[in-house]
Amino acid sequence: MRLVIDSDGGIDDAAAIVWLCGRPDVELAAVTAVGGNVEVRQAARNLRVILEAAGRADVPVYVGADPADPAPRIPRPVFIHGEDGLGDVGLADPLRGADEDTPAVEVLIREMRRGASLLTLGPLTNLAAALRADAAAAASSRLTLMGGSARAQGNARPSAEANVAHDPLAAATAIGARWAAPPVMVGLDVTHTATLREAEFAALAARRTAAAAFLDGPLSFYRRNAGSLCAEGETPCHDLLAAMALVRPDILGVETLPVEVDTGGSAAWGQTVVDLRELGWRRRGEPAAAVVEPGRGPDGNEAGVGAPVAV
Ligand code: BDR
Ligand code: CA
Repeated sequence: MRLVIDSDGGIDDAAAIVWLCGRPDVELAAVTAVGGNVEVRQAARNLRVILEAAGRADVPVYVGADPADPAPRIPRPVFIHGEDGLGDVGLADPLRGADEDTPAVEVLIREMRRGASLLTLGPLTNLAAALRADAAAAASSRLTLMGGSARAQGNARPSAEANVAHDPLAAATAIGARWAAPPVMVGLDVTHTATLREAEFAALAARRTAAAAFLDGPLSFYRRNAGSLCAEGETPCHDLLAAMALVRPDILGVETLPVEVDTGGSAAWGQTVVDLRELGWRRRGEPAAAVVEPGRGPDGNEAGVGAPVAV
C-alpha cells in the first residue's frame, strides 16, 4: 500500500510511524506535518528525527499548516507530549530544518490523485485545505484518521477529541469528502479501550533495536499522564492504533455509520456526532463514514495493540 502520513509530531505519532516503517506491505511515500501537539515547524523537525530512528531518513517531510494560527482553540498538550513534542528527553533536534520546499497541501493532492492511502494522526487542517483546492482527488484515495469518538467522549474538551477540537471545520470537510471508500475513524472510544498495558511496555523494554531505544524515553514521559481517562494501569496509544487499523483491519471491528462534526458555538463544539441508530441511517441512505469498534484479535482475545515496535 502506498501511504502518506499527516502528523503533528507527538509521542503516539512516533510509535505509529516507527511501527509502520517496519511493515513490508507499506510503501511510505511522504510524511506531512501539521500543528497540534506542537507548532508545525517543530512537528516537522520531530518527524525527521522519528523517521531517522526508524531507519527511513529517505522519506521526505513536508511542512503544512498550523490550526493554532492565528488563534489556538485549545491549548497544546504539553503535559502529555512535553514542550518539544517528544517528551523533553533530548531527542528533538532544534537544528533540523531542511524541510522540503513543496507545501504539504500540494503533496496531499498529488498523492491522493495517485491513489495513495492517507493516515492522519493530527488535526485535519492540511487535508481540508487540499480538499478545498481539489475535492475530486478524494475519489482516488482512502482515509484512515485518528480523531473524534463514536460516543461523545472527549479529551481536549468534555466531548471533543484533540485532533478534531484543534480544527472542527477541517474535520468536517475531511470526513464529509467523497472518498473511494468510507473514511475509517479511529476514535477515543476505541483507543481508550485497546490500550498499552504493563505487558506491552515490558515487551518494548526488552527490545534491542534502535527504534525501541528511541521510543523508550518519550513513551516513559507519555505514560505518566496520557492514561488519565483510561482504566487503571492502561495507556492509550491513539495514533498507533489508527496505524494498526489501517494495516491490520482484522484486529478491529468496523461499522459504517453517519458522522457529523459539531463546528458551531455550542458546548459540544468539536464533537463527532455518530448516529448509532442503525435502522434510521440505513433507511434514509445518508452519507456514511466508517467507525472502528474494539473487536476481537485474530487469537480471539480482546484487541490489544501489542508491542509497539516492529522494526
Ligand atoms: C490525538 O491528539 C494528539 O495529542 C495525539 O497525538 C493523538 O493524535 C489524541 O487525541
Ligand atoms: Ca497525533
